[in-house]
Amino acid sequence: MANIVLVGAQWGDEGKGKVIDYLTDEVDVVVRSQGGNNAGHTVVVDEKKYILRLIPSGILRKGKLCVIGNGVVIDPIALWEEISELAAHDVKINSKNLLISECAHLVFPFHRMIDEQREVSKGAQKIGTTRRGIGPAYGDKIARVGIRLGELLQPELFKEKLQARVKEANLVLRGFGQKPIIFKALLNQYLEVGEKIRPLITNTVLTVHRAMIAGKEILFEGAQGTFLDVDHGTYPYVTSSNTTAGGACTGSGVPPHRIGRVVGAMKAYTTRVGEGPFPTQDAVVAELMHSMGREYGSVTGRARRCGWFDSVATRYAQILNGIDELAVTNLDGLDSLPRLKVCVAYKLEGKKIEVPPTCVQQLAKCVPIYAEAAGWQKSTSDARSYEELPPNAREYLRLICDLTGAKLKLVGVGQSRAQTILV
Ligand code: GDP
Ligand code: IMO
Ligand code: MG
Repeated sequence: MANIVLVGAQWGDEGKGKVIDYLTDEVDVVVRSQGGNNAGHTVVVDEKKYILRLIPSGILRKGKLCVIGNGVVIDPIALWEEISELAAHDVKINSKNLLISECAHLVFPFHRMIDEQREVSKGAQKIGTTRRGIGPAYGDKIARVGIRLGELLQPELFKEKLQARVKEANLVLRGFGQKPIIFKALLNQYLEVGEKIRPLITNTVLTVHRAMIAGKEILFEGAQGTFLDVDHGTYPYVTSSNTTAGGACTGSGVPPHRIGRVVGAMKAYTTRVGEGPFPTQDAVVAELMHSMGREYGSVTGRARRCGWFDSVATRYAQILNGIDELAVTNLDGLDSLPRLKVCVAYKLEGKKIEVPPTCVQQLAKCVPIYAEAAGWQKSTSDARSYEELPPNAREYLRLICDLTGAKLKLVGVGQSRAQTILV
């Protein structure tokens, strides 16, 4: 077996949490390499629902090591909350099952406040961020004014760096008409939580390297989705990290040739939360999903925008990530429909195109060209093998995987761990 990268092939919320939980059974180590607590990965085990934000979804399987790599941005207060919530559900965190990179950057309250103020000041042009401070925290990292987790463990150094950072952040906050941050209170709060997580913080490059040398299998857990990638997504309506497969290497310090295969998670339809172009968005699909109580954000509770499966997008995601295998989730969401639409190309200013334009203004003008497929109008949620799926459901899966250009590996027919079909 080879090390696996799991990416989202759409706009996030593809069901990665569930797929990671399933794949974790096959590996020894699960590594998160980008994003922060903007992610919300749902895993349902024995009717118990967990929503993982910063901690890899692999944590729910016993005996596995989870790693939060250097590419992740960490709000340590949110991290401690998550650790405490898991402990309350009998998932105890210690340095045997979770290690965190000392090079991961910290998210501070001023990042959240600036995130929010930028959104408010943009008005109708807002991105629709999760307001977790993710963009400003990555901004600081790239501008070389960020503070790393390892520095939090050195009180004198941390104090000095935070003082300078707060001074500048307060100028920005005042510019937005906001109250300044009180340095002392923030310093104490962070030093305190730093002590709590100290045993988990290390150079995780070596942790992962040693695991590989020992022949252990690694799963890289992607957060967000391909079209939220800061370089390849629908910029500026994206998140601030590289969500595509390459991010697994830079965000963990693992060399590219150590990646064996790439699995892409995608829903059998499409959803997006937040602003930005979404060619196949459709009111009928949204009404169907929301009427079943599905497609509300796991982090912010926002209703997700819904639409038909977009193979123009997923085909490009296959190219960008080198997706070998597909995990198609939420097939059961389409069970009741007599006919389904699948977007096979776009029409842009009278011309048919098969690759999404990289410019959002152009993408916003794209009109989907649909192929139709017959529905199956039968519940799939009890199917446990590919053969048990209705013939039209199998035909639909074949169609969307062929159009995307990768092999089908997994099919999700319900929220729970058991409702997964290995193809
Ligand atoms: P992630 O961010 O990619 O991990 O996805 P989320 O957890 O944010 O959103 C996916 C939603 O779909 C969650 O509510 C999951 O429990 C749910 N889900 C995942 N796979 C399936 C599936 O095959 N069927 C159904 N009904 N729900 C699923
Ligand atoms: P998971 O890992 C879906 C979206 C936000 C917004 C944009 C920027 O659960 O798939 P940010 O707070 O990151 O600056 O917001 O990205 N977004 C997600 N959408 N799933 C996610 O994560 C997301 N993380 C961020 O809604 O449009
Ligand atoms: Mg999610």
